[in-house]
Amino acid sequence: MMHIVTSVPVICDVLWIVNESRNMLSRLLIRRLAARHHASLSLLDIRLRHTQEQQRDDRSQHKQRIMATLIGAWTGVALWLQYNNRTGGDKILMGAGGSVEPFWSLYAVHQSAHVLDWFETFRIGNLSSDDVGASVKDMNDPYGNEPRRHVALKPSSKKPFNAEPPLRLLVDNLITPNDLFYVRNHLPVPEIDEASYELEICDELTNKEKAFTLKDIKKYPKHTITATIQCAGNRRSEMTKVKPVKGLSWGQAAIGNATWSGARLCDVLKDMGIEDGKTDALHVQFEGLDTDPASMPYGSSIPVEKALDPHGDVILAYEMNGEPIPRDHGYPLRVIVPGVVGARNVKWLGRIVLSENESDAHWQQNDYKGFSPNVDWDTVDFKKSPAIQELPVISAICEPAEGQKVKVKDGKIKVTGYAWSGGGRKIIRVDISSDGGRNWQAANILESDEARHPRAWGWTIWKTEVPVCESESEVQLCVKAIDSQYNTQPENFENIWNLRGVLANAYHRVNVKLGK
Ligand code: MTE
Repeated sequence: MMHIVTSVPVICDVLWIVNESRNMLSRLLIRRLAARHHASLSLLDIRLRHTQEQQRDDRSQHKQRIMATLIGAWTGVALWLQYNNRTGGDKILMGAGGSVEPFWSLYAVHQSAHVLDWFETFRIGNLSSDDVGASVKDMNDPYGNEPRRHVALKPSSKKPFNAEPPLRLLVDNLITPNDLFYVRNHLPVPEIDEASYELEICDELTNKEKAFTLKDIKKYPKHTITATIQCAGNRRSEMTKVKPVKGLSWGQAAIGNATWSGARLCDVLKDMGIEDGKTDALHVQFEGLDTDPASMPYGSSIPVEKALDPHGDVILAYEMNGEPIPRDHGYPLRVIVPGVVGARNVKWLGRIVLSENESDAHWQQNDYKGFSPNVDWDTVDFKKSPAIQELPVISAICEPAEGQKVKVKDGKIKVTGYAWSGGGRKIIRVDISSDGGRNWQAANILESDEARHPRAWGWTIWKTEVPVCESESEVQLCVKAIDSQYNTQPENFENIWNLRGVLANAYHRVNVKLGK
């Protein structure tokens, strides 16, 4: 007998059946799914009971056991586990309940005809388009029409939606899949119709104004860059341990690396007669189409020099990793300001203004600024600090995780993570210590794209094996990166603490237990 559960949240549109029951991982998976999808609990209960009864029957009657399990994406995960438990098997469990698509991108090497053929033998049908990927609309809730998000993203706030992926997934591929890219929204995601979408560009100094449709933007030469976007609050949860700071408690994964394609801002502006040396503007302001209850849009600005520099690679991007930009990341158009803090990479771009002034938006004036450790909420004066633009060098250990028991082989343990620096500075070295920072060695594998300083916008994934003192039962791993201007990271958070918990780039420290 076969049960097919259809009234559950699914993202992918294929129904699969898994002929498998001995695998403990499948059962673990089902339990996790049950925990995540409260609404489907009873259905999963029926499924589990059915499976157990059938197994008892089968044992007595020596029949072949058939377990008709879950559908769509869920079974995609189970299938993958069956297919290959070694290749990210445990990591794919993190996607249980969501689409397996991003894992295909992470482990792209498995996108081969024979694997797809094997998967195909499990297809039992397709979901109707009504059941696929539709978001739930609730007109009374400003957050009632948000896009579907992958279950692997761990929210630090749901309304507005802010979430980061599991840290250890970040290092499996140089490119972060769209579905696993951290999301930082301040307001509800706007619903934008591409057919009526327009981007306004206005020069306050000459009163020139022009509106561009998406088609107009796509007429400009398509420029593609690989760039890391990082939230100013990445790793805030570490800084707050020194002394509490205000802000979302980001771990180390409020960062991602993608390819972005679109028109160069300098090409579009040139067409309006706005060029380096021919304008008195000092700032380029960006406004999003997401608005607060007082109809004020999200906004921020960058110096005009960055915007007009052909080597600055500022892009009006309509593609992320070769696909139309997903709603959460700015569909249909977002500005990518590579090397610069995430806050200036305005999504759902509605208006660009060339001006003598910075954006007067809250996020430019009263947020995303750094302060001395002695400044508190009674003494802070946001006017006294410049807005953060290029970010400092940062790194993190993605595997092993804090508290994990790690295997020592030939006196060494494996460590891997990311490193990145703002302003187009390339990572030239990553130093790792396994004794809390007394002794260091350089990581032997650094993987990055080919871009050179000062246009190295993407991150570096590093891997290494560090010797450990085997008589210890626990060691502290630390990492610090060095960029192409020989900048490195501060040793601890005490000296860089600031009340908003931004620019948290001290050495990343991870305590691990040693196992044989
Ligand atoms: N643009 C708009 N319109 N609205 C926003 O809330 N958040 C900013 C920036 N651009 C934001 C925005 C911040 S603070 C960050 S860190 C990045 O978008 C996050 O980009 P992502 O969600 O694509 O990762």
